[in-house]
Amino acid sequence: MITSKRNFFIVLCMAVLLSACGEKADDGPILIKFPHVTAPATPKGQAAERFKQVVEERLAGRVVVEVYPSGQLMSDDDSLDALAFGEVQMIAVSLSKLDRLTHKFQIFDLPFLFPDLATVERFQASTDGAALLDSMADKGLQGLSFWHNGMKQFGGPVPMRSPNDAKGLKFRIMESDVLQAQVLAIGGNPQKMAFGEVYQALQTGAVDAQENTWSNIYSSKFYEVQAYLTETNHGYLGYLVTVNSQFWNALPADIRVELDAIVQEVSAWANENSSQINQEAMEKIIASGASEVVSLTAEELLEWQKVMRPVWEQFESNIGADLIAAAQAARQ
Ligand code: LMR
Repeated sequence: MITSKRNFFIVLCMAVLLSACGEKADDGPILIKFPHVTAPATPKGQAAERFKQVVEERLAGRVVVEVYPSGQLMSDDDSLDALAFGEVQMIAVSLSKLDRLTHKFQIFDLPFLFPDLATVERFQASTDGAALLDSMADKGLQGLSFWHNGMKQFGGPVPMRSPNDAKGLKFRIMESDVLQAQVLAIGGNPQKMAFGEVYQALQTGAVDAQENTWSNIYSSKFYEVQAYLTETNHGYLGYLVTVNSQFWNALPADIRVELDAIVQEVSAWANENSSQINQEAMEKIIASGASEVVSLTAEELLEWQKVMRPVWEQFESNIGADLIAAAQAARQ
């Protein structure tokens, strides 16, 4: 596993060298391996499947897409390395997990910055938001598009109505320093952990609590091992559809243009459907009775916002005050 920017750069140089030595002429279809960690029925799982279907219709015989859901091929962290090495050709890890490559995407983890997906969408479509697609060019990675999952909720062994209820709890978080600071701000103990390990960690008590979207909580069955889920909508979880720049630029131009068009069409479709998928997941969790869903009053929500707000200042120099201002401008 590669943990620092410097090491990632070394891997990237090795990958470029290897591909320069080992490239062979191949007349068969271009293979796009697309591993991801969520279940097929999630917003990302459905988007990846639709991408495969549309590509194999419109580029039949020229491009084949293999989607590997549910972490069956590799973890997100490993997929970033595999993309650099050219072992896989497309990934869509959550924006939080790009923290090890650039601090720019930390903007999406700032608690309560984005009240809803419509605001996220306006920001991503703005000049500053769209420029983020190119922010890993120096690492040899190209962002093609953003996919939404949804807004995150907290879950734990107690009903978390106020940040005081989170004190002392061990929270599983994604690999993001902002999320670490967010959990520290509410008095919790953050543990960075791969998605595939979360269910068991909750079940065995290795962690007490977690944050995720309704669709991830439902499809990965976290609700079966969490007595309470609190509807906080405190943060955004979305993805960057990412390719290896060298692979992408070496594609025949007509294929690259068509693939890009398909990615944009699938993104629009996926981003329209993600709220519905999350809503249905929440309803199924409530109907199951396995976990109690706690709704907060406006005053209770304000308390969470107040306690987490100092995280913005902590990361302002990393992210840039201008970018935070651009995100705030997207709020209405
Ligand atoms: C997580 O690790 O909780 C998420 O990044 C999983 C995902 O891809 O939605």
